[in-house]
Amino acid sequence: MTKTRIAIAALIAIPLAVGLYRTYAPPPLGPMGVHVPPGEDVYISQIAASAIRTVNVSREEAIQANGPTYYRRDAHTKTLGCVAANFRVNQLQPNQQIGLFATPKKEYPAWIRFSTGSSFLQPDWKPDAHGLALKVLGVEGRKLLDGEENELTHDFLMIDNPVFCIRDVPNYAQLTAYQSAGSQPKNVFAYFFDGYAKNPLRWRLRELRLGIDILKMPPSSVLDPQYHSMTAYRYGPQRFAKYSLKRVPCGGSGNELPGSSRLNFAADRLSSTLREQVKDGGPYCFDLLVQFQDPTRNMPVEDTTVLWSEKDSPFVPVARLTIPRQDTAAKQPAGFCENLSFTPWHALPQHEPVGGLNRIRKAVYLNVSRYRRCMNGVALGEPAPDGSPVMPTAACTPTLPIPEGVVASVKALH
Ligand code: HEM
Repeated sequence: MTKTRIAIAALIAIPLAVGLYRTYAPPPLGPMGVHVPPGEDVYISQIAASAIRTVNVSREEAIQANGPTYYRRDAHTKTLGCVAANFRVNQLQPNQQIGLFATPKKEYPAWIRFSTGSSFLQPDWKPDAHGLALKVLGVEGRKLLDGEENELTHDFLMIDNPVFCIRDVPNYAQLTAYQSAGSQPKNVFAYFFDGYAKNPLRWRLRELRLGIDILKMPPSSVLDPQYHSMTAYRYGPQRFAKYSLKRVPCGGSGNELPGSSRLNFAADRLSSTLREQVKDGGPYCFDLLVQFQDPTRNMPVEDTTVLWSEKDSPFVPVARLTIPRQDTAAKQPAGFCENLSFTPWHALPQHEPVGGLNRIRKAVYLNVSRYRRCMNGVALGEPAPDGSPVMPTAACTPTLPIPEGVVASVKALH
């Protein structure tokens, strides 16, 4: 009898212990430098094609819920609002004065778009990632994005979590394969359980835990959380770094966020709160922080699931972002915020995005932003460099170098 009990206890305890260990396992040791595995571009083109499919599915769903509508983003689909801002470079150490941060105290106008991460329009009370996309304007110098080298913008894209739940390109391609197979949430789970494999050792339990961490309860205001780039970037020729944006007290309102409440379950609470906070209060400030890679620590650039420890390398403030008081509804023309296009590849070469996830994003963001804007019949291009809410007006034409996969759909429009 005792032996049977021990056997039953072992049958329960051992898988539980293994499951817990695999869920909370220490992060794997990833490559510290840039490593492009062979065949990566095949995966990337599959992922880009799948992103366009998601744009169409998301639009179909929105049409069924609320009638005719336009094409939105594949990810971070719900726009919570855009605000104008000022970006001012800090007085930095000489070896930090590189690229965008070369000239101390230099100021640039900027736009910020706030969003929720889901590919579908959903009420703000649902757990989700919250996005902050920053576009610094009037930045001279050649940029990295194909076809947009002469644009005067440098973008930073962040969410309210420091790590991602997918390690690299092959894993992302597998997620995409599950997503394309049917309805979204079910198949995201299929990814974590490797198609519900019978062998639990194939389940991605650590990644599942990280994925659950990303789905945050809505903040009291989108001005509240700390945002993170999750992926790494070059900081000059010798170093890699990650970015973060953290709110700091400034001006009359200090650190207060008037009108914030987590107990408001209105579907569009985050956008209305933001609109009122910047109309009636402010300025609000964020420090742009840089965390330099310490190559003697586990701070890989090719594995976005590994947290770069702040103990190993504390954040350094490199610029100050100030959001002045403003009436967003009165100042921004209809569609201005929606038609902006952010990508980490709107960047100076000194700050090149690195790592597999960033390489995916080069193709995906370009494809998706051109697809949605061409399908909506609006112009491609970046907003005015002086910070006025003006977009180019030339029609989106298929003679522009539109990447494969988008060409057929755009041709069908003309
Ligand atoms: C891992 C780090 C990532 C971060 C921090 C991040 C963050 C963001 C943010 C903040 C936006 C909203 C941009 C806006 O306001 O217009 C966005 C958009 C988007 N993200 Fe990501 N993202 C990441 C990875 C990825 C990956 C791996 C994919 C691959 C499919 C992806 C696909 C997209 C797409 C398609 C858009 C919409 C682009 C557009 O149409 O303008 N993201 N992302």
